[in-house]
Amino acid sequence: SAAVKGGYDSFMRKEIHEQPTAVADTLRGRFDTRGQLMLDELRIPEAELRSIDKIIVIACGTAAYSGHVAKYAIEHWCRIPVEVELAHEFRYRDPIVGPRTLVVAISQSGETMDTLMAVRHAREQGARVLAICNTHGSTIPRESDAVLYTHAGPEVAVASTKAFLAQVAACYLLGLFLAQLRGTKFPDELRETVAALQALPDKIQRVIDTEPEIEEVARALADEESFLFLGRHVGYPVALEGALKLKEIAYIHAEGFAAGELKHGPIALIEEGQPVFVVVPSPRGRDSLHSKVVSNIQEVRARGARTLVIAEEGDDDVVPFADVIFRVPQTPVLLAPLVSVVPLQIFACALATAKGLDVDQPRNLAKSVTVE
Ligand code: G6P
Repeated sequence: SAAVKGGYDSFMRKEIHEQPTAVADTLRGRFDTRGQLMLDELRIPEAELRSIDKIIVIACGTAAYSGHVAKYAIEHWCRIPVEVELAHEFRYRDPIVGPRTLVVAISQSGETMDTLMAVRHAREQGARVLAICNTHGSTIPRESDAVLYTHAGPEVAVASTKAFLAQVAACYLLGLFLAQLRGTKFPDELRETVAALQALPDKIQRVIDTEPEIEEVARALADEESFLFLGRHVGYPVALEGALKLKEIAYIHAEGFAAGELKHGPIALIEEGQPVFVVVPSPRGRDSLHSKVVSNIQEVRARGARTLVIAEEGDDDVVPFADVIFRVPQTPVLLAPLVSVVPLQIFACALATAKGLDVDQPRNLAKSVTVE
Protein backbone atom coordinates (compact mmCIF):
# COMPACT_ATOMS: atom_id res chain seq x y z
CA SER A 1 0.00 0.00 0.00
CA ALA A 2 0.99 3.63 -0.42
CA ALA A 3 1.20 4.06 3.37
CA VAL A 4 4.11 1.63 3.90
CA LYS A 5 5.78 3.16 0.87
CA GLY A 6 5.66 6.58 2.52
CA GLY A 7 3.43 7.97 -0.23
CA TYR A 8 5.67 6.73 -3.07
CA ASP A 9 4.28 4.51 -5.83
CA SER A 10 7.06 1.95 -5.33
CA PHE A 11 9.61 0.93 -2.71
CA MET A 12 12.31 1.41 -5.30
CA ARG A 13 11.37 5.05 -5.79
CA LYS A 14 11.15 5.54 -2.03
CA GLU A 15 14.59 3.97 -1.59
CA ILE A 16 16.09 6.15 -4.33
CA HIS A 17 14.82 9.15 -2.37
CA GLU A 18 16.36 7.78 0.83
CA GLN A 19 19.86 7.77 -0.67
CA PRO A 20 21.13 11.04 0.82
CA THR A 21 20.21 9.68 4.28
CA ALA A 22 21.65 6.24 3.52
CA VAL A 23 25.03 7.77 2.67
CA ALA A 24 24.96 10.29 5.55
CA ASP A 25 24.09 7.52 8.03
CA THR A 26 26.87 5.31 6.68
CA LEU A 27 29.44 8.10 7.14
CA ARG A 28 28.15 9.26 10.53
CA GLY A 29 30.27 8.57 13.60
CA ARG A 30 33.18 7.30 11.54
CA PHE A 31 35.30 10.48 11.60
CA ASP A 32 36.68 12.44 14.54
CA THR A 33 36.49 16.25 14.63
CA ARG A 34 39.80 16.53 12.72
CA GLY A 35 38.45 14.39 9.89
CA GLN A 36 40.47 11.31 10.90
CA LEU A 37 38.78 7.98 10.22
CA MET A 38 37.76 5.97 13.28
CA LEU A 39 36.69 2.48 12.30
CA ASP A 40 36.78 0.84 15.72
CA GLU A 41 34.56 -1.95 14.45
CA LEU A 42 37.35 -3.22 12.18
CA ARG A 43 38.52 -5.73 14.72
CA ILE A 44 41.48 -6.89 12.69
CA PRO A 45 44.78 -6.01 14.42
CA GLU A 46 46.35 -2.83 12.98
CA ALA A 47 49.64 -4.64 12.40
CA GLU A 48 47.83 -7.07 10.14
CA LEU A 49 46.03 -4.31 8.26
CA ARG A 50 49.41 -2.63 7.72
CA SER A 51 50.89 -5.78 6.23
CA ILE A 52 48.12 -6.57 3.74
CA ASP A 53 49.61 -7.01 0.29
CA LYS A 54 46.44 -7.70 -1.68
CA ILE A 55 42.71 -7.07 -1.42
CA ILE A 56 40.16 -9.25 -3.15
CA VAL A 57 36.58 -8.00 -3.25
CA ILE A 58 33.96 -10.72 -3.66
CA ALA A 59 30.27 -10.03 -4.23
CA CYS A 60 27.39 -10.62 -6.64
CA GLY A 61 25.15 -8.38 -8.69
CA THR A 62 24.99 -4.73 -7.76
CA ALA A 63 27.24 -5.27 -4.74
CA ALA A 64 30.01 -6.41 -7.12
CA TYR A 65 29.81 -3.09 -8.96
CA SER A 66 30.44 -1.24 -5.70
CA GLY A 67 33.58 -3.37 -5.49
CA HIS A 68 34.64 -2.19 -8.97
CA VAL A 69 34.44 1.39 -7.74
CA ALA A 70 36.43 0.41 -4.63
CA LYS A 71 39.25 -0.92 -6.80
CA TYR A 72 39.87 2.45 -8.45
CA ALA A 73 39.75 4.33 -5.14
CA ILE A 74 41.72 1.94 -2.92
CA GLU A 75 44.50 1.28 -5.43
CA HIS A 76 45.01 5.01 -5.88
CA TRP A 77 44.84 6.02 -2.23
CA CYS A 78 46.58 3.02 -0.67
CA ARG A 79 48.76 1.53 -3.46
CA ILE A 80 47.47 -1.94 -2.54
CA PRO A 81 46.49 -4.15 -5.49
CA VAL A 82 42.74 -4.81 -5.51
CA GLU A 83 41.02 -7.56 -7.46
CA VAL A 84 37.27 -7.67 -7.83
CA GLU A 85 35.63 -10.97 -8.49
CA LEU A 86 32.14 -12.39 -8.65
CA ALA A 87 31.87 -14.64 -5.61
CA HIS A 88 30.72 -17.68 -7.60
CA GLU A 89 33.77 -17.43 -9.89
CA PHE A 90 36.26 -16.76 -7.09
CA ARG A 91 35.51 -19.95 -5.29
CA TYR A 92 35.92 -22.27 -8.23
CA ARG A 93 39.14 -20.99 -9.75
CA ASP A 94 41.71 -21.87 -7.08
CA PRO A 95 42.38 -18.23 -6.12
CA ILE A 96 45.73 -17.21 -4.64
CA VAL A 97 45.02 -16.06 -1.11
CA GLY A 98 47.09 -16.13 2.03
CA PRO A 99 47.47 -14.56 5.46
CA ARG A 100 48.35 -11.16 3.94
CA THR A 101 45.27 -11.13 1.71
CA LEU A 102 42.28 -9.12 2.86
CA VAL A 103 39.09 -10.46 1.33
CA VAL A 104 36.25 -7.92 1.38
CA ALA A 105 32.82 -9.54 1.01
CA ILE A 106 30.14 -7.04 0.05
CA SER A 107 26.49 -8.01 0.50
CA GLN A 108 23.34 -6.04 1.24
CA SER A 109 21.48 -9.00 2.71
CA GLY A 110 24.43 -10.86 4.23
CA GLU A 111 22.71 -14.07 3.11
CA THR A 112 23.75 -14.52 -0.53
CA MET A 113 24.87 -18.15 -0.70
CA ASP A 114 27.43 -17.59 -3.48
CA THR A 115 29.12 -14.88 -1.41
CA LEU A 116 28.93 -16.89 1.80
CA MET A 117 30.58 -19.92 0.19
CA ALA A 118 33.35 -17.68 -1.12
CA VAL A 119 33.85 -16.24 2.38
CA ARG A 120 34.21 -19.73 3.82
CA HIS A 121 36.64 -20.69 1.09
CA ALA A 122 38.78 -17.58 1.68
CA ARG A 123 38.96 -18.22 5.41
CA GLU A 124 39.90 -21.84 4.87
CA GLN A 125 42.82 -20.56 2.77
CA GLY A 126 43.95 -18.35 5.65
CA ALA A 127 42.72 -14.97 4.42
CA ARG A 128 41.25 -12.31 6.69
CA VAL A 129 37.67 -11.56 5.69
CA LEU A 130 35.97 -8.22 6.18
CA ALA A 131 32.24 -8.05 5.43
CA ILE A 132 30.57 -4.87 4.19
CA CYS A 133 26.94 -5.56 4.92
CA ASN A 134 23.60 -3.81 5.44
CA THR A 135 21.90 -6.41 7.64
CA HIS A 136 22.88 -6.72 11.28
CA GLY A 137 23.51 -10.22 12.54
CA SER A 138 23.21 -11.85 9.12
CA THR A 139 25.28 -14.88 8.17
CA ILE A 140 28.11 -13.31 6.14
CA PRO A 141 29.15 -10.85 8.91
CA ARG A 142 28.85 -13.63 11.50
CA GLU A 143 31.24 -15.81 9.52
CA SER A 144 33.71 -13.01 8.78
CA ASP A 145 36.62 -11.72 10.89
CA ALA A 146 35.17 -8.21 11.00
CA VAL A 147 32.29 -6.19 9.59
CA LEU A 148 31.79 -2.65 8.42
CA TYR A 149 28.05 -2.08 8.38
CA THR A 150 26.34 0.11 5.82
CA HIS A 151 23.48 2.05 7.38
CA ALA A 152 21.09 2.26 4.45
CA GLY A 153 18.14 0.92 6.45
CA PRO A 154 16.05 -2.01 5.24
CA GLU A 155 15.91 -2.27 1.44
CA VAL A 156 12.68 -3.83 0.15
CA ALA A 157 12.78 -3.41 -3.64
CA VAL A 158 14.57 -6.31 -5.34
CA ALA A 159 16.68 -3.93 -7.42
CA SER A 160 19.28 -2.41 -5.12
CA THR A 161 19.68 1.38 -4.99
CA LYS A 162 20.34 2.91 -1.59
CA ALA A 163 22.30 -0.14 -0.44
CA PHE A 164 24.58 0.32 -3.47
CA LEU A 165 25.34 3.93 -2.60
CA ALA A 166 25.98 2.96 1.02
CA GLN A 167 28.31 0.14 -0.13
CA VAL A 168 30.29 2.56 -2.28
CA ALA A 169 30.51 4.98 0.67
CA ALA A 170 31.70 2.16 2.97
CA CYS A 171 34.36 1.18 0.43
CA TYR A 172 35.62 4.78 0.44
CA LEU A 173 35.74 4.67 4.26
CA LEU A 174 37.78 1.48 4.12
CA GLY A 175 40.17 2.93 1.52
CA LEU A 176 40.65 6.19 3.39
CA PHE A 177 41.17 4.29 6.65
CA LEU A 178 43.81 1.99 5.16
CA ALA A 179 45.55 5.00 3.59
CA GLN A 180 45.57 6.78 6.96
CA LEU A 181 46.86 3.69 8.75
CA ARG A 182 49.58 2.81 6.26
CA GLY A 183 50.62 6.35 5.38
CA THR A 184 49.75 7.88 2.05
CA LYS A 185 51.51 9.64 -0.78
CA PHE A 186 48.56 12.02 -1.03
CA PRO A 187 47.80 13.54 2.41
CA ASP A 188 46.24 16.73 0.95
CA GLU A 189 44.11 14.80 -1.49
CA LEU A 190 42.89 12.55 1.31
CA ARG A 191 41.93 15.52 3.48
CA GLU A 192 40.02 17.06 0.59
CA THR A 193 38.36 13.72 -0.17
CA VAL A 194 37.14 13.37 3.42
CA ALA A 195 35.59 16.85 3.25
CA ALA A 196 34.07 16.14 -0.17
CA LEU A 197 32.63 12.85 1.03
CA GLN A 198 30.79 14.62 3.82
CA ALA A 199 29.30 17.05 1.28
CA LEU A 200 27.94 14.22 -0.87
CA PRO A 201 24.51 13.63 0.67
CA ASP A 202 23.47 17.17 -0.36
CA LYS A 203 24.79 16.62 -3.86
CA ILE A 204 22.89 13.33 -4.18
CA GLN A 205 19.77 15.22 -3.14
CA ARG A 206 20.35 17.75 -5.91
CA VAL A 207 20.35 14.93 -8.47
CA ILE A 208 17.14 13.49 -6.99
CA ASP A 209 15.58 16.95 -7.34
CA THR A 210 15.93 16.56 -11.13
CA GLU A 211 13.73 13.44 -11.09
CA PRO A 212 10.81 14.99 -13.07
CA GLU A 213 13.07 15.73 -16.08
CA ILE A 214 14.56 12.24 -16.01
CA GLU A 215 11.09 10.68 -15.77
CA GLU A 216 9.94 12.61 -18.80
CA VAL A 217 12.83 11.25 -20.86
CA ALA A 218 12.16 7.72 -19.57
CA ARG A 219 8.50 7.89 -20.55
CA ALA A 220 9.46 9.03 -24.05
CA LEU A 221 11.80 6.03 -24.42
CA ALA A 222 9.53 3.40 -22.86
CA ASP A 223 9.10 1.46 -26.14
CA GLU A 224 12.81 1.07 -26.91
CA GLU A 225 14.13 -2.48 -27.19
CA SER A 226 17.75 -1.94 -26.30
CA PHE A 227 20.04 0.50 -24.51
CA LEU A 228 23.81 0.75 -24.41
CA PHE A 229 25.76 2.32 -21.53
CA LEU A 230 29.31 3.62 -21.85
CA GLY A 231 31.59 4.71 -19.05
CA ARG A 232 35.26 4.90 -18.30
CA HIS A 233 37.35 4.72 -15.09
CA VAL A 234 34.84 4.83 -12.20
CA GLY A 235 32.15 5.59 -14.78
CA TYR A 236 32.58 2.06 -16.12
CA PRO A 237 30.97 0.27 -13.14
CA VAL A 238 28.32 3.00 -13.18
CA ALA A 239 27.54 2.08 -16.79
CA LEU A 240 27.34 -1.61 -15.84
CA GLU A 241 25.00 -0.80 -12.96
CA GLY A 242 22.79 1.42 -15.16
CA ALA A 243 22.42 -1.46 -17.63
CA LEU A 244 21.70 -3.97 -14.87
CA LYS A 245 18.91 -1.80 -13.45
CA LEU A 246 17.14 -1.69 -16.84
CA LYS A 247 17.47 -5.46 -17.33
CA GLU A 248 16.24 -6.24 -13.84
CA ILE A 249 13.12 -4.12 -13.66
CA ALA A 250 12.24 -3.03 -17.22
CA TYR A 251 13.16 -6.33 -18.98
CA ILE A 252 14.98 -4.39 -21.66
CA HIS A 253 18.15 -5.63 -23.25
CA ALA A 254 20.86 -3.36 -21.95
CA GLU A 255 24.62 -3.63 -21.97
CA GLY A 256 27.35 -1.62 -20.31
CA PHE A 257 30.78 -1.18 -21.86
CA ALA A 258 34.06 0.45 -20.98
CA ALA A 259 34.02 3.42 -23.36
CA GLY A 260 37.56 2.66 -24.55
CA GLU A 261 36.34 -0.73 -25.73
CA LEU A 262 33.81 0.83 -28.11
CA LYS A 263 36.14 0.77 -31.11
CA HIS A 264 37.08 -2.86 -30.39
CA GLY A 265 33.60 -4.18 -31.05
CA PRO A 266 30.49 -2.59 -29.57
CA ILE A 267 30.44 0.31 -32.03
CA ALA A 268 29.25 -2.20 -34.63
CA LEU A 269 25.96 -2.31 -32.74
CA ILE A 270 25.19 1.34 -33.34
CA GLU A 271 22.47 2.02 -35.86
CA GLU A 272 20.00 4.81 -36.45
CA GLY A 273 18.11 5.72 -33.30
CA GLN A 274 19.98 3.42 -30.85
CA PRO A 275 19.83 5.06 -27.43
CA VAL A 276 23.26 5.24 -25.76
CA PHE A 277 23.91 6.48 -22.24
CA VAL A 278 27.36 7.94 -21.71
CA VAL A 279 28.76 8.58 -18.22
CA VAL A 280 31.25 11.39 -18.77
CA PRO A 281 34.24 11.71 -16.42
CA SER A 282 35.02 15.03 -14.81
CA PRO A 283 36.86 17.52 -17.04
CA ARG A 284 39.12 18.04 -13.99
CA GLY A 285 40.29 14.42 -14.06
CA ARG A 286 43.69 13.13 -15.14
CA ASP A 287 44.95 11.89 -18.48
CA SER A 288 42.44 13.64 -20.76
CA LEU A 289 39.87 10.92 -20.16
CA HIS A 290 37.18 13.55 -20.41
CA SER A 291 38.02 14.50 -23.99
CA LYS A 292 38.30 10.84 -24.97
CA VAL A 293 34.79 10.11 -23.72
CA VAL A 294 33.45 13.26 -25.39
CA SER A 295 34.94 11.86 -28.63
CA ASN A 296 33.08 8.60 -27.99
CA ILE A 297 29.80 10.53 -27.77
CA GLN A 298 30.64 12.13 -31.11
CA GLU A 299 31.52 8.75 -32.68
CA VAL A 300 28.27 7.03 -31.73
CA ARG A 301 26.19 10.03 -32.63
CA ALA A 302 27.79 10.27 -36.07
CA ARG A 303 26.48 6.73 -36.61
CA GLY A 304 22.93 7.66 -35.68
CA ALA A 305 22.83 7.00 -31.92
CA ARG A 306 20.64 9.08 -29.65
CA THR A 307 22.94 10.17 -26.84
CA LEU A 308 21.86 10.45 -23.22
CA VAL A 309 24.74 12.04 -21.40
CA ILE A 310 25.50 12.17 -17.67
CA ALA A 311 27.83 15.13 -17.19
CA GLU A 312 29.00 17.45 -14.46
CA GLU A 313 27.44 20.85 -14.03
CA GLY A 314 29.49 23.32 -16.02
CA ASP A 315 30.81 20.74 -18.52
CA ASP A 316 29.92 22.52 -21.76
CA ASP A 317 32.02 20.29 -24.03
CA VAL A 318 29.27 17.68 -24.16
CA VAL A 319 26.53 20.08 -25.26
CA PRO A 320 27.04 19.86 -29.04
CA PHE A 321 26.88 16.04 -29.05
CA ALA A 322 24.20 15.25 -26.47
CA ASP A 323 20.54 14.72 -27.31
CA VAL A 324 19.77 14.80 -23.59
CA ILE A 325 22.01 15.88 -20.71
CA PHE A 326 21.49 14.77 -17.12
CA ARG A 327 23.52 17.06 -14.89
CA VAL A 328 25.30 15.99 -11.71
CA PRO A 329 27.15 18.22 -9.22
CA GLN A 330 30.94 18.42 -9.31
CA THR A 331 32.76 15.95 -7.07
CA PRO A 332 36.35 14.68 -6.81
CA VAL A 333 36.89 12.20 -9.64
CA LEU A 334 36.86 9.05 -7.50
CA LEU A 335 33.65 10.00 -5.67
CA ALA A 336 31.62 10.65 -8.83
CA PRO A 337 29.73 7.31 -8.86
CA LEU A 338 27.71 8.42 -5.83
CA VAL A 339 26.06 11.08 -7.98
CA SER A 340 26.37 9.75 -11.54
CA VAL A 341 24.53 6.48 -10.90
CA VAL A 342 21.46 8.25 -9.53
CA PRO A 343 19.99 9.45 -12.88
CA LEU A 344 20.37 5.87 -14.20
CA GLN A 345 18.44 4.45 -11.23
CA ILE A 346 15.69 7.04 -11.63
CA PHE A 347 15.56 6.39 -15.37
CA ALA A 348 15.12 2.62 -14.96
CA CYS A 349 12.52 3.05 -12.23
CA ALA A 350 10.52 5.55 -14.27
CA LEU A 351 10.73 3.50 -17.45
CA ALA A 352 9.58 0.29 -15.75
CA THR A 353 6.77 2.23 -14.06
CA ALA A 354 5.72 3.71 -17.42
CA LYS A 355 5.53 0.16 -18.82
CA GLY A 356 3.18 -0.78 -16.01
CA LEU A 357 5.58 -3.34 -14.53
CA ASP A 358 5.91 -4.35 -10.89
CA VAL A 359 9.04 -2.35 -10.16
CA ASP A 360 9.60 -3.82 -6.70
CA GLN A 361 9.06 -7.50 -7.55
CA PRO A 362 10.54 -8.15 -10.99
CA ARG A 363 9.87 -11.52 -12.56
CA ASN A 364 12.34 -14.36 -11.94
CA LEU A 365 14.39 -12.45 -9.33
CA ALA A 366 14.69 -12.66 -5.57
CA LYS A 367 15.95 -10.00 -3.19
CA SER A 368 18.33 -12.41 -1.62
CA VAL A 369 19.48 -15.58 -3.34
CA THR A 370 20.11 -18.15 -0.62
CA VAL A 371 20.89 -21.05 -2.93
CA GLU A 372 24.06 -21.62 -4.96
C1 G6P B 1 20.26 -10.69 -5.88
C2 G6P B 1 19.52 -9.38 -6.01
C3 G6P B 1 20.47 -8.27 -6.48
C4 G6P B 1 21.66 -8.18 -5.54
C5 G6P B 1 22.37 -9.52 -5.44
C6 G6P B 1 23.42 -9.51 -4.32
O1 G6P B 1 20.59 -11.21 -7.12
O2 G6P B 1 18.45 -9.52 -6.92
O3 G6P B 1 19.79 -7.02 -6.46
O4 G6P B 1 22.55 -7.19 -6.01
O5 G6P B 1 21.46 -10.55 -5.10
O6 G6P B 1 22.75 -9.41 -3.10
P1 G6P B 1 23.43 -9.05 -1.75
O7 G6P B 1 22.37 -9.14 -0.69
O8 G6P B 1 24.52 -10.09 -1.52
O9 G6P B 1 24.02 -7.69 -1.85
